Amino acid sequence: MKATVMGTGYVGLTTGAMLAQFGHKITCIDIDERKIDQLNMGQVPFYEPGLDALVKKHLNKNLKFSTGLQSIVNSKVVICAVGTPPNQDGSPDMSYVLAVAQQLIPYLKRYKVIVIKSTVPVGTKKIIQDYLLSQGVHRSKFDIVSNPEFLREGTAIHDSFYPDRIVIGSDSQRAVSLTYSLYQQCECPVLITSNEGAEMIKYAANSFLATKISFINELADICEKYSVDIEEVARGIGYDKRIGLHFLKAGVGFGGSCLPKDLSGLIYLADKSGIDPKVLRSVSHINAERPYQVVNKLKNVLGSLENKKIAVWGLAFKPETDDMRFAPSIPIIKQLVEEKAKVYAFDPVAANNAKPLIPECVKISNDMYEIARDSDAVVIVTEWDLFKNADLSLLKKVMKYPVIIDGRNIFSPADMKLQGFNYYGTGR
Ligand code: UGA
Repeated sequence: MKATVMGTGYVGLTTGAMLAQFGHKITCIDIDERKIDQLNMGQVPFYEPGLDALVKKHLNKNLKFSTGLQSIVNSKVVICAVGTPPNQDGSPDMSYVLAVAQQLIPYLKRYKVIVIKSTVPVGTKKIIQDYLLSQGVHRSKFDIVSNPEFLREGTAIHDSFYPDRIVIGSDSQRAVSLTYSLYQQCECPVLITSNEGAEMIKYAANSFLATKISFINELADICEKYSVDIEEVARGIGYDKRIGLHFLKAGVGFGGSCLPKDLSGLIYLADKSGIDPKVLRSVSHINAERPYQVVNKLKNVLGSLENKKIAVWGLAFKPETDDMRFAPSIPIIKQLVEEKAKVYAFDPVAANNAKPLIPECVKISNDMYEIARDSDAVVIVTEWDLFKNADLSLLKKVMKYPVIIDGRNIFSPADMKLQGFNYYGTGR
């Protein structure tokens, strides 16, 4: 099938490359000329393992890139995968999605399915439909499908080829069938829902994941007080199938472009409808406090942080990505600087993206041991494998004091004690 994908972020580009692999003829469109030039040279403008190779494999065959809209003419399906970043009040900025709807108007002379993959609030399908009708587009010329995406950064390729489920929300059987045929090579449950149901499923999924994380983080604080290991507790409850083992890693809190944004989006929707979302608000509140707890822990161990040399290992909001959006490293570093610590930081891929987001006085290095030299403490913020496999005897040798604050529980407290570290995990 011929399809056009609007937007070449994580979702748009991964979807485009996956559909090209499935044999569809895909054009990915973006307004950013530099990005499109890069993609036309086979370079992915962000770090996502495996995506480069997939794009290169299909480039100029099943997969094309353009800033022009020409491919829409012959596309049966147009997938909207542009961003919906948060506004100040927590609501999502819908301007990019609405711009896509506007761009489609001249092309809706022949029937097309508009697939909304961008994360959008409940009611968006109706807003876009009403808008197109108000612009004189005939109702018979389009259907709108709400088709949320559940891929994670860092494992985007795997997640899109092997999704847990596909959600297709539409009131048109024809549109559902066309959308389904895009994905028919995926072996997973396919849920056909209303548009509104699909829109809500996405917000609910991310908010539930956020809830699991804030729950385990709160439990970690309680465990810490009673000298119980949260990792044992997480496994102990997680093997109960009703609870599940995933998303029970206690730590510095959730970041990224999705969980924080969709949680605020759902809170905004609830508020607007007159519901006070008490659970969701607490989830957000607990998460906002996590970075400061790391700094407090450090202060409990070192006393005043003034002029103390602190090495921060990890900047990205999670491993296998260079994405710094809502990364917990940002508030942690800002707070350390406020406490007048001398902060050094290392990340294997996110350093460049981090620079404009953290205070200038922070020294970013490309050597994780060098930043730890003569340091008073190392704080682990992202659980990169590189850190898990660190040469701990070298690390101990270069540090002034062997204090480790492990914000991701990547080491075993017993091993670290044996190695001679003053090791402080999270919730253990
Ligand atoms: C999230 C969802 O997991 C995807 O299903 C969804 O498609 C995506 O948002 C989206 O809406 O586009 P992502 O933001 O890439 O994916 O990252 P996650 O793997 O969900 O991690 C989010 C944050 O939670 C990270 O900061 C991570 O470190 C933290 N986290 C995750 C924990 O602190 N503990 C955990 O147990 C799991």
